[in-house]
Amino acid sequence: MSFRSPSGRVIRNPKKLSFDYVPDRLPHRDEQQQNLFMLFRRAVESGVSQNAFLHGNVGTGKTASAKRFCLDYKEWASEKGKSVEHVFVNCRKRSNKSSIMWKLVSHFDKNFPDRGFSVGEMMEIMKKHINKHSIHLFIILDEADALIQRDGPELVFLLSRFDDENVTPVGSVSLILISQKNVLELLDESALSTFKRSNRILFPPYDKNEMKDILLYRSELALYPGSIEEDELDLLALITAERGDARLGIELLEKSALLAEQKGDNKIGPEDIRTAKADVDPHMTVSRLKGINKNERMILMAAAQKLRNNSFVTTGDLETHYKMLCENYGKNSLGHTQFWKYVNSLDAEGLLDTETVSSGKGRTTRISLNDIPADILEKKLKDLIEG
Ligand SMILES: Nc1ncnc2c1ncn2[C@@H]1O[C@H](COP(=O)(O)OP(=O)(O)O)[C@@H](O)[C@H]1O
Ligand SMILES: [Mg+2]
Repeated sequence: MSFRSPSGRVIRNPKKLSFDYVPDRLPHRDEQQQNLFMLFRRAVESGVSQNAFLHGNVGTGKTASAKRFCLDYKEWASEKGKSVEHVFVNCRKRSNKSSIMWKLVSHFDKNFPDRGFSVGEMMEIMKKHINKHSIHLFIILDEADALIQRDGPELVFLLSRFDDENVTPVGSVSLILISQKNVLELLDESALSTFKRSNRILFPPYDKNEMKDILLYRSELALYPGSIEEDELDLLALITAERGDARLGIELLEKSALLAEQKGDNKIGPEDIRTAKADVDPHMTVSRLKGINKNERMILMAAAQKLRNNSFVTTGDLETHYKMLCENYGKNSLGHTQFWKYVNSLDAEGLLDTETVSSGKGRTTRISLNDIPADILEKKLKDLIEG
């Protein structure tokens, strides 16, 4: 067969949407970056090591912030003539002491044999490398709970007090732990004693506005100019801010872009976003639609029709369209108060989303559909209403 490339052009640079890519800026993580800098500033200035724990839910930018910090810090240090290096370990992939120690030693000796050395021996070898080159080494243990739960807190203990044992401390080591769980609770007394509780840096979930800034920034990096508009960014932000998870946000951005390209479009539309969301998280099912009453079905159908080409519809426009739809079906429509009541119950069921926004004209409520493409919803409702 001959392969057809999609004719639409939305994604300019796919690498900049990948999870491994570390962007130059991390909007809304300045405070965390600054806290890290305050903690580690003295590591370079006077060779004092420190430990930090980055704590927060999935997709709150912990891994990206740690990597960005190490890269920026390295530059800052080199201006002062100090040499800083970092080794990043994902403890879901390496969850025991010797495998992690091997990775640390291999940073200095690419040909280091992967067996035959104990943890203690590898620690000594690493120490020699660090002192020989007067390096300050950042060790980042990402998903550290996997290590501690599978192999105990010993390695965290050893690494966090690495400098105490260093007889001629020329180089030094700082440890950054990252986890969704509170790993400080998983550490035993001795490991905890070297970890100040105040060294915990919190990563709260992103809210809607923060998510929008992040997605705008990542679109500017990765997409052709003009391929996503304000309303569609708003819709993406609204959908993903429920969890505050930037990973989900970027994944949906990428999927929506690919769907638009496949259709031959040069622009992400609201249906691309909903299709992407339904793909990632197939929430809405026909069975849920069967659970709602006739009035709710009509309102939802009106919303689906209005939202085919739009990210949002105002409640006023929805009500007008709903009345027209009832008329077409020869049914009585609800009064305003009842209409509102059912819109709210659809919102509570998670079938619609209502949001109050301030505009030039004052405050209005607008409605969006976050789980299912409008055309699929319309077809399913049509079957139910007419069936
Ligand atoms: N503030 C931000 N600005 C831009 N991109 C971000 C931001 N926070 C997270 N990301 C991106 O979101 C994705 C998930 O972030 P990550 O650091 O892996 O989260 P965590 O480690 O907390 O699960 C990555 O692609 C990352 O680059
Ligand atoms: Mg992570």
